[in-house]
Amino acid sequence: MGKQLFLILNSIILWRWSSITTSEAYSQNQTDRLALASFKNAIHKDPLGVLSSWNDSTHHCEWQGVLCSKRHPRRVTSLVLRSQGLQGFLSPYVGNLSFLRVIILENNSFHGEIPPQIGNLLRLRLLFLSINSFGGPIPSNLSRCSNLETLNLMYNQLVGGIHSDLGSLTRLKALTLSANSLVGPIPCSIGNLSLLQQLFLAKNALSGEIPEELSRLKRLKFFQLSLNKLIGEVPAGILNFSDITIFSVACNQLRGSVLNDVDTSPSLYFLSIVYNLFTGMIPSTLTNATGLRELYLDHNNFHGPIPKNLGRLKGLYWISFRYNHLQDDLSFISSLVNCSNLKVLGMSGNLIHGSLPRSFSNLSTSIEQIDMLENRIQGTLPSAIGNLFNLSVLALSNNFLIGRIPDSIGGLYKLQQFVLAGNMLTGEIPSSIGNITLLNLLDLSFNIFQGYIPQSLGNCKQLIGLDLSNNNLIGSAPVEILSLSSLAIVLSIANNNLSGSLPLQVGSLKNLGMLDLSHNRLTGLIPTSISECLVLERLHLEANSFHGQIPEALRPLRGLKELDLSNNNFSGPIPSFLAGLSLLKYLNLSFNQLEGQVPEGGVFLNASSVSIYGNMKLCGGVPGLKLPLCKSSSSKKSSSTKARVIYVVAGSLSCLALLLLCLSIFYCKKKQMTTNASSSLSFENQFLRISYEELLRATNRFSETNLIGKWRYGTVYKGILDGGATVATKVLNLMQRGASRSFISECRTLGTIRH
Ligand SMILES: *[C@@H]1O[C@H](CO)[C@@H](O)[C@H](O)[C@H]1NC(C)=O
Ligand SMILES: *[C@@H]1O[C@H](CO)[C@@H](O)[C@H](O)[C@H]1NC(C)=O
Ligand SMILES: *[C@@H]1O[C@H](CO)[C@@H](O)[C@H](O)[C@H]1NC(C)=O
Ligand SMILES: *[C@@H]1O[C@H](CO)[C@@H](O)[C@H](O)[C@H]1NC(C)=O
Ligand SMILES: *[C@@H]1O[C@H](CO)[C@@H](O)[C@H](O)[C@H]1NC(C)=O
Ligand SMILES: *[C@@H]1O[C@H](CO)[C@@H](O)[C@H](O)[C@H]1NC(C)=O
Ligand SMILES: *[C@@H]1O[C@H](CO)[C@@H](O)[C@H](O)[C@H]1NC(C)=O
Ligand SMILES: *[C@@H]1O[C@H](CO)[C@@H](O)[C@H](O)[C@H]1NC(C)=O
Ligand SMILES: *[C@@H]1O[C@H](CO)[C@@H](O)[C@H](O)[C@H]1NC(C)=O
Ligand SMILES: *[C@@H]1O[C@H](CO)[C@@H](O)[C@H](O)[C@H]1NC(C)=O
Ligand SMILES: *[C@@H]1O[C@H](CO)[C@@H](O)[C@H](O)[C@H]1NC(C)=O
Ligand SMILES: *[C@@H]1O[C@H](CO)[C@@H](O)[C@H](O)[C@H]1NC(C)=O
Repeated sequence: MGKQLFLILNSIILWRWSSITTSEAYSQNQTDRLALASFKNAIHKDPLGVLSSWNDSTHHCEWQGVLCSKRHPRRVTSLVLRSQGLQGFLSPYVGNLSFLRVIILENNSFHGEIPPQIGNLLRLRLLFLSINSFGGPIPSNLSRCSNLETLNLMYNQLVGGIHSDLGSLTRLKALTLSANSLVGPIPCSIGNLSLLQQLFLAKNALSGEIPEELSRLKRLKFFQLSLNKLIGEVPAGILNFSDITIFSVACNQLRGSVLNDVDTSPSLYFLSIVYNLFTGMIPSTLTNATGLRELYLDHNNFHGPIPKNLGRLKGLYWISFRYNHLQDDLSFISSLVNCSNLKVLGMSGNLIHGSLPRSFSNLSTSIEQIDMLENRIQGTLPSAIGNLFNLSVLALSNNFLIGRIPDSIGGLYKLQQFVLAGNMLTGEIPSSIGNITLLNLLDLSFNIFQGYIPQSLGNCKQLIGLDLSNNNLIGSAPVEILSLSSLAIVLSIANNNLSGSLPLQVGSLKNLGMLDLSHNRLTGLIPTSISECLVLERLHLEANSFHGQIPEALRPLRGLKELDLSNNNFSGPIPSFLAGLSLLKYLNLSFNQLEGQVPEGGVFLNASSVSIYGNMKLCGGVPGLKLPLCKSSSSKKSSSTKARVIYVVAGSLSCLALLLLCLSIFYCKKKQMTTNASSSLSFENQFLRISYEELLRATNRFSETNLIGKWRYGTVYKGILDGGATVATKVLNLMQRGASRSFISECRTLGTIRH
């Protein structure tokens, strides 16, 4: 390639030479044409053919994307090639386009370093190299472009520090370096940029304190420093600038009582300080900033009461202060009734007590999401809750709610997540829930619900998770629910008083990862149709009265990780195929009437993964199991036969890059492979592998709008992959108080960060 490039450059020089000698028209300065030709030559790919007009037969001032000066003909003043899919590097020759004022190469695939020769462009006002793959440092020579007004390098792979010389670009109005890999401190010389209106440094690895000098930037409108490693306090005054509109320092390690700074701040519109160490109370003066529309205070250490005058913020659209130490009753809700655009109210994880006021149902019908998990809320659900017909998320788990779920709940026809686990709710589960056909997640576990499971739940054809466990439900396991093939994450009716047998329809659960029927009074045989639940990873049937042999129908469930059949009446031998389930890590067969030889491969090799107590007639197995030797060894080797098996895998819950991030994928693949010899490595190959970036794209950066559910087992986001496949992305343990400020937690809040 180098040689080719050399030839091309050579031919340009020859051409240039010949044109100078032959054409009088071209006898003037050809530097710009040569520089543009070099620019073109450094580009390997031009999928949209934008550079095809850059040819010998036209004047370079007519080339697409090029503008020339009127006063100095031939001198290029602007080079604009946005979103053209251009691939290549940026030729240092651009540094010769000395009349250039504007360079916009945004959203292409330029790589390599930003050539320092750009520092020769003393007339340059606008430099947009954002959304490319530029690497290396920000060239310090850029600081020579003293006329620069806008510098936008966001979404590249720039490394190194921010040079303090940038502070000499005194005409700069917008400095945008977000989404790179920049390190080190924010230089205090930035405080010299007295015309600066926009400072975007988010999503880097900047450290140290925010320099005090930034409080001199009185014209600031946008202040975006989120997702860095900044410490210390926010300099006083910034939140009180008269033009400040967007202020975000989310996901840093900042402390202090930043909110006291908010005064009348007439323009303040968006305020996000989530995931920091801020302390103090939420001052009632906050509501002097009457233009506030989005207020994100989650995951800090705020304490004390919640201002009662929040209703002054009439335009409020989003307010969340989840996971702080706020201690108050719910009387502030009455004031929010006046916020007619309110869409999200998030207050999970505080010390909020008292019962839901009647005004709760008078909140604006625009409201779509209310989460109050993990507080101390008492009393009953207001019967008029059905008024809030635009709700898509209602999450009240882990409080002290009592009473029944009002029938009016069925009026919330847009509800997608309904999460009430861990309360003391009683009565029957209203069958009107079956009217909510968009429901994705229903978690009523750990309450005191009685009566039958309403068959109408079978109308909720979008359910991906259903947890009714730990209640006092009676009757049979309804066929209608066991036929819901949409169920993907979990179906649990464990710890109730359900009886009868397991219906054949269980085979419809083709996407289900976890089925928990344990601790009921279920009887009969396991239907062979269970062989169709190919994605099952966790199957819990313990503490029931199932009987018969351990069914052969479990053999195709190659993804099984946990299998608990303990405390039933299973009899006969332990089938050797269990030793061939290579992912099986937990097997409990205790307290049945199993007999004969214990297999020796797979999960059985590790005595601590297997539990077989209370089966009197078992023998053999690895010594760790401490069973008597078998008398006959006729069938001994059957378990280790290296049979070739057609592997049918529907991927699910694959760990990505050591993060606690898992994917449930409704996705099937067939692959042939041998068992035993294959380790889990080859198994992994069958999962859909996607990059974290793609996942971010698919889930719209884990945005709240893609949130399907908060769930005891994690948080679930809907996503659409580049190929069009729909996935559910599960982020585990997210809601745990005190969980480390993990990368993923931060990513979740990306939705609350503006670029
Ligand atoms: C041509 O332009 C270059 C770069 O701007 C400049 O250095 C050079 O002096 C110019 N030459 C003539 C002949 O104008
Ligand atoms: C050169 O560019 C002109 C103007 O865009 C175009 O019409 C012409 O086809 C191009 N010539 C070649 C050889 O590509
Ligand atoms: C980037 O360019 C691609 C086409 O190359 C386009 O589809 C996409 O929308 C552009 N993105 C932005 C943010 O401009
Ligand atoms: C233009 O820039 C290149 C590389 O930066 C340099 O080699 C060349 O001499 C410069 N001058 C002209 C007139 O092309
Ligand atoms: C960078 O600027 C310095 C002066 O500040 C100059 O000597 C040097 O040549 C410049 N580098 C390039 C590549 O233009
Ligand atoms: C720019 O800022 C630095 C650090 O704050 C300061 O030392 C320097 O004097 C300032 N320069 C000008 C020209 O204001
Ligand atoms: C906010 O600015 C106003 C006017 O500049 C000033 O009077 C007020 O004291 C400031 N408030 C705070 C909290 O800094
Ligand atoms: C700001 O809020 C406080 C308390 O709510 C109030 O006393 C004060 O008058 C307000 N200031 C303005 C300028 O509205
Ligand atoms: C709501 O607004 C009305 C009129 O704007 C006002 O009279 C009332 O006091 C407000 N209510 C609350 C709770 O702020
Ligand atoms: C709620 O709204 C209804 C009708 O708009 C009204 O009659 C009732 O008084 C309101 N309740 C509260 C507590 O504001
Ligand atoms: C309900 O939500 C939809 C979609 O977000 C919105 O267009 C509509 O205005 C909302 N309805 C009310 C009464 O706010
Ligand atoms: C809602 O559900 C109840 C009970 O299942 C039923 O009687 C009623 O007709 C349903 N309403 C609508 C609008 O579907």
